[in-house]
Amino acid sequence: MVNYSMDSENVIPPPDESHRVATTDDIEVSTYLEIAKEISGQQPAVTEEAVSGAKREAIIVLDFGSQYNMLIARRVREAQVYCELLPHDTPWEKIEPLNPKGFILSGGPASVYEAGAPLAPAYVYESGLPVLGICYGMQVITKQLGGEVTPGTKREYGHAVLHLSYMDCPLFNGLPESTPVWMSHGDKIEAMPPGFRTLAYTENSPYAVIGNGKNIFGLQFHPEVAHTPEGRTILRNFVYKVCGCRGNWTMGHFVNESLARIKEQVGGGKVINALSGGVDSSVVATLIHRAIGDQLTCIFVNNGLLRREEADRTLKVFNTNLGMNIVYVDAADRFLNRLKGIIDPEQKRKIIGEEFIRVFEDEAKRIGRVDFLAQGTLYPDVIESVSSVSNVSAKIKSHHNVGGLPAKMTLKLLEPLRFLFKDEVRQVGTELGLPEEMVWRQPFPGPGLAIRCIGEVTREKLEILRAADFILMNEIKKAKLYRQLWQSFCVLTDVRSVGVMGDFRTYGYLAAIRAVTSEDAMTADWARLPYDLLARISNRIVNEVPEINRVVYDITSKPPSTIEWE
Ligand code: XMP
Repeated sequence: MVNYSMDSENVIPPPDESHRVATTDDIEVSTYLEIAKEISGQQPAVTEEAVSGAKREAIIVLDFGSQYNMLIARRVREAQVYCELLPHDTPWEKIEPLNPKGFILSGGPASVYEAGAPLAPAYVYESGLPVLGICYGMQVITKQLGGEVTPGTKREYGHAVLHLSYMDCPLFNGLPESTPVWMSHGDKIEAMPPGFRTLAYTENSPYAVIGNGKNIFGLQFHPEVAHTPEGRTILRNFVYKVCGCRGNWTMGHFVNESLARIKEQVGGGKVINALSGGVDSSVVATLIHRAIGDQLTCIFVNNGLLRREEADRTLKVFNTNLGMNIVYVDAADRFLNRLKGIIDPEQKRKIIGEEFIRVFEDEAKRIGRVDFLAQGTLYPDVIESVSSVSNVSAKIKSHHNVGGLPAKMTLKLLEPLRFLFKDEVRQVGTELGLPEEMVWRQPFPGPGLAIRCIGEVTREKLEILRAADFILMNEIKKAKLYRQLWQSFCVLTDVRSVGVMGDFRTYGYLAAIRAVTSEDAMTADWARLPYDLLARISNRIVNEVPEINRVVYDITSKPPSTIEWE
């Protein structure tokens, strides 16, 4: 018996207006042959102490809406202390079970003196736990503990030099007397709360760091951003020297805890997972497989929009080498038939997303009883959907994983990565023994080559694009640039132009090369690839792919462009 509804007429979610569709996210498999070789016979690399270890300690970042908030949590976790970003008005009942060791009050766009400005809940001060206020968070502390904040006459934005007045403040351990910091604030502190004193200053901010002589501190600048070079040290000092954390957040611990949790959660149940070969779905599959073996079945959908050899290589790694139960579905005809005549990019996305869900459901039905659906949801998706303070920039990147879920599926969700950042997922992949090449794969969009084949998607055009893309990837890897680039790929444009080859006139396709650097795909810069590399790629493409007679390099950044052409 299948214990979830599969009424496919009703399960298609509304069109995703966010330029994203949840399908086989992130498939780049041109490295898979090497990976397959490396994986055979490889033993798990997990060596850390087991689950029964010390109770996990946590730092809680209360979110007042700054665009840098997620970074704070990442920085704390880099210091091996678990950190959660929660809405500023989260009730204590939700915080207590996390075993909090300290609070960080984040920055944010509001002004504390305005009516209705968000403030910290009373427990922050009543708990006696250490508190670090950053920018707006510092003003919150000032206001709530009896100081005064006023609108500044001018906004202070950018670099400043911090001069330490009290070198023995625990936050400053290991810092030089002066260090650059990044400021971004309009309001200023007029009077500190009683019992506070200034611990460091900048030219424009006499109260750049304040403290109450015990365990409450305020920073006027942003320690979490890269422009504050000693920021990591300051945050590290806060969690270790002020909060007394011991640092038990390691991916080794995480893996061990997860294996136990997955076993407990799943029991004797059955799990299905849409495997794409991308980092997230690969790590999810490997983790769950390690925990429950054959109770996991992965469904791998070949939508006909994958790159050369991608499907075969994915199967080889996960099925042959890792011994996973995999249902391989060759659905290329279904997808390509539905894409006939479609040129609008968003329509392509919508069709591919819908079709993926249909295929997935058909296959899931065939498997029989299933209890859980595994997903590679990551922490940023979770944060976006719970944050009580609007974070406009984060919304641009919407949910790849959850967006396309059949609305009526009553399967329980298994999301073992839901509290991890992407860099942590990569570390988990490494802990699980996945080879570096797989762990560091560039993202590949769910709609695959359909959005890199401008205009109508045809089998012929896909083959041309695959051939060009294969050459590009090969040269990028040979040049050892693959990992430095966020993404690198070819686009087959709909433009044809005249060329000459030997004594013959040609009229062929124009291919474009796109290579970008980026931190998170929200912004990106075109990569300054060496000229001789570009020359080699271009030469090889026009020589080895007869239908292409011209190659251009895309030199636009995002914004105003996007990374993908469609
Ligand atoms: P853009 O083109 O918006 O892309 O700059 C940002 C990142 O998202 C990927 N991308 C997608 N991923 N489904 C996906 O799973 C999509 O529809 C989609 N569109 C773009 C893109 O490859 C880049 O990494």
